[in-house]
Amino acid sequence: MPASSLEQIVSLAKRRGFVFPSSAVYGGLGSTWDYGPLGVELKNNVKRAWWRSVVYDRDDMEGLDAAILMNRLVWKYSGHEATFSDPMTDCRACKARPRADHVFVAQKGRDPKGIAEINAAIAAKELACPKCGAKDLTEARPFNLMFKTTVGPVDTGDQSGLAYLRPETAQGIFVNFGNVLDTMRRKLPFGVAQIGKAFRNEITPGNFTFRTREFEQMEIEYFVKPGEDEVAHQTWIDARTQWYVDLGMRRENLRQREQDKTELAHYAKRCVDIEYRFPMGWSELEGIANRTDFDLKAHSRSPENPDAVGELRYFDQEQKKHIVPYVIEPSAGADRATLAFLCDAYDESLVKEPPAEEIAKLRELVQSFAKSVEKRDAKQMEAETKARLLAAAEKVAAGLPGTLPELLALSDDADANRIEVFKKVRGVADKLGEEFTRTVLHLHPRLAPITVAVFPLKKNEPRLVEMARGIKKSLQAAGLRAVYDDTGAIGKLYRRQDEIGTPFCITVDFQSLDDQTVTVRDRDTMGQERVGAAEVPGALRAKVG
Ligand code: GAP
Repeated sequence: MPASSLEQIVSLAKRRGFVFPSSAVYGGLGSTWDYGPLGVELKNNVKRAWWRSVVYDRDDMEGLDAAILMNRLVWKYSGHEATFSDPMTDCRACKARPRADHVFVAQKGRDPKGIAEINAAIAAKELACPKCGAKDLTEARPFNLMFKTTVGPVDTGDQSGLAYLRPETAQGIFVNFGNVLDTMRRKLPFGVAQIGKAFRNEITPGNFTFRTREFEQMEIEYFVKPGEDEVAHQTWIDARTQWYVDLGMRRENLRQREQDKTELAHYAKRCVDIEYRFPMGWSELEGIANRTDFDLKAHSRSPENPDAVGELRYFDQEQKKHIVPYVIEPSAGADRATLAFLCDAYDESLVKEPPAEEIAKLRELVQSFAKSVEKRDAKQMEAETKARLLAAAEKVAAGLPGTLPELLALSDDADANRIEVFKKVRGVADKLGEEFTRTVLHLHPRLAPITVAVFPLKKNEPRLVEMARGIKKSLQAAGLRAVYDDTGAIGKLYRRQDEIGTPFCITVDFQSLDDQTVTVRDRDTMGQERVGAAEVPGALRAKVG
């Protein structure tokens, strides 16, 4: 059963060391997350798979790693200083600060033509605060999303040291276009790939790592001759969609969405989003834009840009003249892709039916939890939280035992844990979960944080331990991420590895000592086969690909 809510993914991610709330010892910092030991492996594998596909497997690509801090003028001429903003409005009644364009769309059922139309609607009292309903909104103002910082030891106050944390990695590629062209002696078409951090002071971050203020992008700028851009654009849209499918993402959970003209960024002629069906609904995973010659022209010396030192252009041997290439930009988020792979891989199911009396007891506890929530007044619990917990409790109680996985996901919910009886709910649910449910991450072997785990059948049998450790070493020598574990019964060890997506487990038993074979267990089929210990590293390497 796939995850029905993002909470199930968040819960697993925290419990098993994929992602932790950042600076938790000081109460955290809203919407910032740290990747734990397994999360960093997963995200690194996503980035590695991307780099391999767009750089190593092609002949027309180069890599780059540009600085995060750049000359402020980059952001002036890219258009970000003037246009990289969201219109915000304040509610005078409840002090909420919603995005004015979102309020307009939600209440008028169409996109506004611009900030002037939004403000006309606010002045005419046609728009209401989405939080409290008051028609008392301030004029919408643009709020720039770029984080500012100061370069140098002294803030002189005159903005001479002003710099931005880059809001996209793309500009680092544009301003290096000439360097890559000259040093690598490339002919069009060719592209440059880059992975790196980007920062946006998002007004509404949320949905776990889906939208954060610090995130990582995997961007390509693919330079083509004008006129060849539309075909190249479509080719990249299809290639990038296929990349997710090749790494195991279900095709039915992916779709391509054409941006309409009002959504297009100031530089784009056409943009198609690859969307993923996240538990919270279809949302953007990657955008693939035709940026035309906007950026290379913007950073070239011209009457509009007297600050640039030269021109970013290409000498076309066929036409014997300089041209400005068009750019196709497949722009993916490393964090979003990692989250989507996690969601897609997640599978939680009941392995056998728990006893009816245990389920009846749990249902009663959930119902008394719901009653306690119901009793909370507005001072004790926000209406939104109350409604959320009541809906969850009702759904769980009605669907037990099938909803046991959802109940387990609620275990980490801070609001639920404020209700005393929830501790009892958790106690019973955890016990049943341990015995009757199985969580598996069906991650592609190339993405799984750990490729193979090796167990001795008995940890107090030195010959088994020695052989298991030796096999683990041979797997490491073959470049595989391998771990040794003897801290539980084999069944329990399998379950632990299933939950973190380890595709293969190897057990060394007494037969292994006689014939040098081991059992290789497949996470997805749970099938086991005996393989010669010496062949295992090569066989698994081939499966990872
Ligand atoms: N250079 C083009 C560009 O930056 P974008 O659509 O704003 O385009 C590209 O961003 C990708 O970066 C998105 O599809 C998403 O995967 C990721 N991304 C953007 N903002 C993000 C955020 N606040 N948190 C996490 N990922 C984000």
